[in-house]
Amino acid sequence: MSEKLSIKEAKKDIRDFIVEWNDGHISQFNYLWLRDNCPSDIHPTARERTFNLLTVSENIQPKEFSFCKDKLIIKWNEGNHTSEFPTEWLRENCYTLKNSQSYESPYVLWDNSLSKSLDKIKIDCAEIMEGDEGILKYLKQLHYYGFSLVENGPTGKNSGAEVLERISHFRQTFFETPFEVINIPNPNNSAYTALGLRNHLDLPYYEIPPGYQFLHCLVNDATGGDSTAIDGFKVASYMKEKFPKFFKVLTEVPVKFVNRDYTQNTTRVLHAPLILLDKDSDFHIIRFSIAYMSIMDCSPDKMDLFYRAYRKFAELLHDDMFTVRFRLKAGDIFSFNNLRLLHGRTEFDPNSGNRHLQGYYMDRDEIRGRLSFLENQID
Ligand SMILES: [Fe+2]
Repeated sequence: MSEKLSIKEAKKDIRDFIVEWNDGHISQFNYLWLRDNCPSDIHPTARERTFNLLTVSENIQPKEFSFCKDKLIIKWNEGNHTSEFPTEWLRENCYTLKNSQSYESPYVLWDNSLSKSLDKIKIDCAEIMEGDEGILKYLKQLHYYGFSLVENGPTGKNSGAEVLERISHFRQTFFETPFEVINIPNPNNSAYTALGLRNHLDLPYYEIPPGYQFLHCLVNDATGGDSTAIDGFKVASYMKEKFPKFFKVLTEVPVKFVNRDYTQNTTRVLHAPLILLDKDSDFHIIRFSIAYMSIMDCSPDKMDLFYRAYRKFAELLHDDMFTVRFRLKAGDIFSFNNLRLLHGRTEFDPNSGNRHLQGYYMDRDEIRGRLSFLENQID
């Protein structure tokens, strides 16, 4: 059994408390950070910080400190306050350690080889309806693969809602919930035609597009109308490795997206790069929609490089090497990360039969939040 972690030595520095642990690790705890994170200033039920950092000066210091029962006790020179930090808490929140660890992406990137092992991303609807174990399985597929195919669901109008509400509430948009993916006269969106749709992500002109999309198939007996799925993170990762200059320009140059839906009294305009990275340089948001990309207006010295990079990205996002093809059947819910996975469909013949999907959006926070909660509860 490993020895219990304890503090071997502690000393005050000018702006930090330096702690040496019995395993040799040295932590640095900034005084403002320590005071700001005093455990006594967290509301017991709201679980929110109640302390106001502006009530102390930026020069706050420990007046004295001591150790008692596995706790570091600091009496501050301002505010007549004493903080008690359990040593376990200090180790758990040690940012020296956190910043020295190498980042591991949670995402499982995939290409067309996933077609041979679709069971990895399939789930029976009954599992989701039975309880938390099934919901957790569904959420893991959504978060790690960005893709899940729910099978044997209901086929009644609006019946997808009772399945998806097992996760959380929906993100509303002007398309309303659910939106009807069916061919209609005078469509305000090409999804509402029988045309084939090139691979895209929905609503790229929103500052934060809906994080997840769920396409619930009620009927699909027309000729054509097969679905495609492409992992945008995988394609971005391929670009990073094979075409680093192109990758860089796609992470930097803001692209103009515009939506002028004729049924709305609104014009939505947004500038954002096609590939957005997170704080660990992992993939965060892919925005790609040939339909909604507007007239580019970046600096002239970047236009040629941007266009060559964009062209290569578009080519790869439609390459068979990355494409998973499948056909939705009644009761399926094609569920995916709308900031990662590109979706498309082949043209269908509306005179040969019916094709009707109902769509729902949900924010990514809801998926990650539920996953985080259930992982702690069950795993
Ligand atoms: Fe779409």
